[in-house]
Amino acid sequence: MPSMVVVGSINLDIVARAARLPTPAAKVTDALIMRYPGGSAANQALAARRLGANVALIGRVGRDADADAALALLREGGVDIAGVDAVPDAATGVALIAVAASGENQIIVAPGANLRLATESLQLPAVDALIGETLTPGDAVTRAVGTFEGFTCVTLATASEVDDAVLRDSDLIVVNESEAAWYGDRLALREGLIAKTFGASGAALFRGGEEIARSSSPAAMAVDTTGAGDAFTAALSLGLVEGKPYAEALRFACAAGATATQRRGAQPSLPTRDEVERVLRDTELG
Ligand code: RIB
Repeated sequence: MPSMVVVGSINLDIVARAARLPTPAAKVTDALIMRYPGGSAANQALAARRLGANVALIGRVGRDADADAALALLREGGVDIAGVDAVPDAATGVALIAVAASGENQIIVAPGANLRLATESLQLPAVDALIGETLTPGDAVTRAVGTFEGFTCVTLATASEVDDAVLRDSDLIVVNESEAAWYGDRLALREGLIAKTFGASGAALFRGGEEIARSSSPAAMAVDTTGAGDAFTAALSLGLVEGKPYAEALRFACAAGATATQRRGAQPSLPTRDEVERVLRDTELG
């Protein structure tokens, strides 16, 4: 079974579900509030676990009740959280998420304890793959990518401070269209893989500026897109580490991402391997 370590953010997601998203001029008054475990790295870790990997998560939470809620599904799902420390003087990260009936969302994150992930405490296990993200302090992901020996994947976020070494040295970078535009020329010179996601329209894989694979996404009426990108990233990394050809790994990832939009909440929606394989059997992805 492939093994992975995921380094990054752990949040409690407070979700307001309403008919539409608010605008600066128009408030929304029909929302239902739900709380779900979330955070990109925590979601990726659980996604990889449900897809069949042995997974360890490294991150920080506060010493508060939100931490228990944020870690509940990771514990239940068998993710190794020995590398998740509770810091005494910071709150567990919280994401305020508005979700519209269309499945679209808006997210505001209060990172809290996630910002306390210190590079010197990064004890990376000897596993097949590492997934890092840029919502925790940038030097943590720089150090992780710089010292890890196996396959490395980094998911970028718009306006994060990311060292050039991370963009140069990681084996796989995952971005959506707006992130790709924001990083622009800094990504153009990369020799490693770049996966670009296009929401419901699927994703493409590039190497050295050339497109090497493209996949559509299974047609699905999204109820909540939160966590879909994390399912995609975990599935693509796992597929590549398992030795799937590029096009097949990308289809696997698109099916995982689309399946995650079918249920509410970041972590409750993450699909199992059986679910993703069923979707792939029932759908012709071009
Ligand atoms: O990637 C989805 C995650 O982004 C949510 O679970 C939320 O915590 C935000 O950080």
